[in-house]
Amino acid sequence: MSETSPKLRAVLGGIPTYKPGKPAAAEGPVAYKLSSNENPYPPLPGVMESALAAAAGFNRYPDMACTGLMNELAERFGVPVTHIATGTGSVGVAQQLVQATSGPGDEVIYAWRSFEAYPIITQVSGATPVQVPLTSGDVHDLDAMADAITERTRLIFVCNPNNPTGTVVHREELERFLDRVPSDVLVVLDEAYKEFIRDVEVPDGLEIYRDRPNVAVLRTFSKAYGLAGLRVGFAVAHEPVAAALRKTAVPFGVSQLAQDAAVASLRAEDELLGRVGSLVCERQRVSEGLAGQGWTVPDTQANFVWLRMGELTVDFAAACEQAGVVVRAFPGEGVRVTIGETEANDIFLRAAEAFRKERF
Ligand SMILES: Cc1ncc(COP(=O)(O)O)c(C=O)c1O
Repeated sequence: MSETSPKLRAVLGGIPTYKPGKPAAAEGPVAYKLSSNENPYPPLPGVMESALAAAAGFNRYPDMACTGLMNELAERFGVPVTHIATGTGSVGVAQQLVQATSGPGDEVIYAWRSFEAYPIITQVSGATPVQVPLTSGDVHDLDAMADAITERTRLIFVCNPNNPTGTVVHREELERFLDRVPSDVLVVLDEAYKEFIRDVEVPDGLEIYRDRPNVAVLRTFSKAYGLAGLRVGFAVAHEPVAAALRKTAVPFGVSQLAQDAAVASLRAEDELLGRVGSLVCERQRVSEGLAGQGWTVPDTQANFVWLRMGELTVDFAAACEQAGVVVRAFPGEGVRVTIGETEANDIFLRAAEAFRKERF
C-alpha cells in the first residue's frame, strides 16, 4: 500500500474546522446548553406532525425546487418567487453566495469578530478573507469596511445583529455604507436573528434589497422558528444572484422534512413569534441582571449576550459549566451565552455573580 495520501488543496491546511457549540454534559447535575444560539422550545405539535408525515416518504428524494416552501416564502415576505433561494441552513446559502462570487484572487470582507463560518467558507472557495475589526463598542465599523474595498472585493458580509456580540447597525449608517459599495460587489445582510430585534432603528433587509440589486438577505428557520436540526435557510436577492444560488446548491440539499416543517412553521408564525417575545423578555432580564452585577454588556438584539472577558474567558466558561450551563468561550476574547430556559438563565446569572465576587 502506498504511503502517500491523495493531494488535497493546500488552502485547506490553513482553514479551521467549524467548532459546534459544546454539548451539555450527558451525566452529572443539570446541564443546559447555552452554546449554540438554539431555540430552547421544543417543536410545536403541528410542525412536528408535518415533519413526521414527510418522514413517511423518505425513501423518495425531496422536491428539489422546494416549490411549496418557495411559494409560501414569496407570499409571506411579498417578494417574487424568483428572488428566493433555499439551502441547507443559512450557512449553506452563505457558502453558495461565496462560491457564486468569489474564487482565488478575490476578496471577501467581513467584520471580526463575527460569525465563525465566514472565514471558513471564504477560504474553502479559495478567496482571501479581509477581516475588519469591530469598533471598541463591538459594533461593525462600516466606514472601515468601506475603506477596505479594493478592485478584488467580490462580497461583503454584514451580520445584523452580529454574532457573537448581538450588536446592530442602524438604517442610516447601513444606507450610507451601501452607497459607498460599488454596484458590482455583493453585500450579504445576514439576518439570522432578525426576529429577535426590537430596536426600531434597525432596518429590515428586505426593504433595503428591493432598490439595490447588489444586496442579498439571508434568513434562517434555525433560530426564531426552532428548526436548527432540520437545516433550512434562504436568501432573498435579485434574479441574477438568486439564479446563481440555484446553480451552486447541492442537489436535493433541503430534505422534505425540512421543507414541510418550514411551511408549517410559517403557518404557525404567531405562536412561534410569541415564543420569541418571551425569549426577548428573558434577554432583557439577563442583560439587566448582568449590568446590575457590574458587568458591561453590549446592547444585544439577538438571542444571546456577549461578555468581553479577555484572559478570564476560559475560567468563566469553566465556572458556568460547573454551575450547570455550557456557554460559548472565545478564548482571550469573551463569552457568548444563549438565552435559554428560565432556569438555565437563572443558573447562568448566579454563576456570573459568584464569579464576579470571586475574581473582581
Ligand atoms: C449570523 C449567523 N448566520 C448564519 C447562521 C447559520 O445558521 P443556519 O445555518 O442554522 O441557518 C448562524 C448560526 O449560528 C449565525 O449566527
